[in-house]
Amino acid sequence: MELPEEILAHIFSFLPLWDKCNAFTVCRRWNSTMTYPSAWRQTEIRCDSEIGVPERFSEFLPLVRNLKLSVSVSSSENRRTGLEVLRQALAGGEGRLRALCVNCLGNPPLFYAGQDLLQGLLDALTAASSLTELDLRGVPFTLSDAFVKGVVTLCPALRSLFINNGSLVCGVGGETVRDVLRLCPGLTALGVFQASLSQDVLQDLLLPRRPALKQLELRCERSLKYTTPLPDHTWAQVSRMHPALAVDLELDHTLPELHVPSVLQPSIPVRHLRLLTWTWLLDEVRLVGRSYANTLEALEVQTPPSAELNEALVELATRCTRLREVHCYCVVSPEVVAAFRKHCTDLRRYTLKTRKEPHPWTCTSLR
Ligand SMILES: *[C@@H]1O[C@H](CO)[C@@H](O)[C@H](O)[C@H]1NC(C)=O
Repeated sequence: MELPEEILAHIFSFLPLWDKCNAFTVCRRWNSTMTYPSAWRQTEIRCDSEIGVPERFSEFLPLVRNLKLSVSVSSSENRRTGLEVLRQALAGGEGRLRALCVNCLGNPPLFYAGQDLLQGLLDALTAASSLTELDLRGVPFTLSDAFVKGVVTLCPALRSLFINNGSLVCGVGGETVRDVLRLCPGLTALGVFQASLSQDVLQDLLLPRRPALKQLELRCERSLKYTTPLPDHTWAQVSRMHPALAVDLELDHTLPELHVPSVLQPSIPVRHLRLLTWTWLLDEVRLVGRSYANTLEALEVQTPPSAELNEALVELATRCTRLREVHCYCVVSPEVVAAFRKHCTDLRRYTLKTRKEPHPWTCTSLR
């Protein structure tokens, strides 16, 4: 069967760059289809070898609307190629590029902190005023206030911005997040380190005419020990003002145990919760069951096993019935598995093991 060229072009749009390049050479029909702008709508480009983008394909880069750029950071040559690709996608694109996701591959050289990459990114973004989505979660370098301020100054149309990689330390302060909100008035999704949020940031979210925030991704790590906890009553106000808001929280193993309770404020509309602290989390699991019963859709827990934990998890299962996923990285009792399967009717995937298995633990999918 012959597919119409428009449909073929749509299918090709899902191919990464090198496969797109190969498609050119298959036959004349494919060759002509590849020149449709829709074939280039979304494109993933990996710069992980010394080969740059062949000359004849650079002319198509300005057609890309959603670009996922994966750059191997191990050599400066790859980083240069990556930035060159971005420049070409932006230059002459007449504001076509809408979404950019940057992902770093490989191990950075010792003492390399990504300066050339970040500066190059900033330089390229001077032509990106049309950008509405920027995802830098895959960039494992500490981002500075100056960098983030630069980005939002250049890209005021951003509707989503993610800068929450689990890199070294949080380098972005509350005043910068306030600038983000001020300079990008249409922002509805934001991912940051929780240490970058201040009481003032939350107050800014309460200002009249602030568009509804829909997603907030927060990484909670060691930098939180230098900050003042955000009070529950302010979270309550924020979730009243932004009724569609869903918060995704990740607590990692660098967060001191002492600070875990102050992160888990009951009025946060938590949708996804990753408790990866490796500490005892009994009270926390009980608290989660009570506080987030109406919003929680996915839970991950990394904590030592115990009979009390099993009880707490059974109780949580009876309350958090909207859960679609639960992953517990310690052995649990059969009652825990039965409770989640019985009460959480939307459950799709779970990792609940009743005895120790070799790693990595596989997860069970339902339906
Ligand atoms: C941070 O970036 C690295 C490299 O791209 C990636 O492997 C890792 O998953 C990222 N971390 C987060 C929390 O996104």
